[in-house]
Amino acid sequence: MQIIREVESLRRALAGLRAGGGRLALVPTMGALHAGHMALIAEARRRADHVAASIFVNPKQFGVNEDLSSYPRREAADARMLEETGCTLLWAPTLAAMYPDGFATTVAVSGISDGLCGASRPGHFDGVATVVAKLFNQVRPDIALFGEKDYQQLAIVRRMARDLDFDLEIVGVPTERDADGLALSSRNVYLSEAERASALALPRALAEAAAAILAGAPIADTLARARERLDVAGFDPVDYVELRDAETLEPLVSLDRPGRLLAAARIGRTRLIDNLAVGT
Ligand code: PAJ
Repeated sequence: MQIIREVESLRRALAGLRAGGGRLALVPTMGALHAGHMALIAEARRRADHVAASIFVNPKQFGVNEDLSSYPRREAADARMLEETGCTLLWAPTLAAMYPDGFATTVAVSGISDGLCGASRPGHFDGVATVVAKLFNQVRPDIALFGEKDYQQLAIVRRMARDLDFDLEIVGVPTERDADGLALSSRNVYLSEAERASALALPRALAEAAAAILAGAPIADTLARARERLDVAGFDPVDYVELRDAETLEPLVSLDRPGRLLAAARIGRTRLIDNLAVGT
């Protein structure tokens, strides 16, 4: 697996890959890879002939009080995992390669970026959309894979790709979970043993609420109960527990279309997110 850090060498490497023909998949990441990321790589291998992954801890998507400086970085271990899973190229640009001096462009996907995580993390999704647009232009993949774990991010990337005529297919991959149900996340390493135990309330509250809504329970009451459950488990603050249209992410007041339950809450210094389908 080639590890590449500059745009010029990336272009040469991609020209070499493309000369042999076949479909190219891209899996964008910020590293600290786990089985969730590997599920994306495995799905990419099933759908394409060549798999490129990117690792770039993107400063533009971190708020001033967020964890940019402490975000886990372990590129050597990541590279080994990627190679073992069949990744052919690792694009790990330097900060200057991604954002050269004078960089001044922002990609903003309005509407869909505003609520949910957009409300508690202002500017976050502009940073995501900007770096993902750059990654698409740098790598020019035929398909790009994103996790449903970051459901709003996936919806924003789909919207951006359509709006900006990126000629590629966006594939969403189901959330990979620990055996007890907690969604895998690079940020789970921040959790103490006690927090890890309490964190389970998040997937459990979502599963219970999804079942209740499907069984016809009133939506507002059910969301309030889920929020209360998270409060009791020690989450503080609970940023949101909401039912949204699974595609547009508009608020849903009755389950007349496929829905998605989404939640974000902080436990100790760690902000966790999760989501679940409600109805199909
Ligand atoms: P990161 O958090 O590293 O996630 C990279 C990709 O892995 C995302 O598409 C995310 O949804 C997916 N992923 C994370 N945990 C997962 C899980 N448990 N199951 C399935 N997929 C999972 O998301 C980002 O990086 C960045 O915002 C990025 C898109 C790379 C732009 O900087």
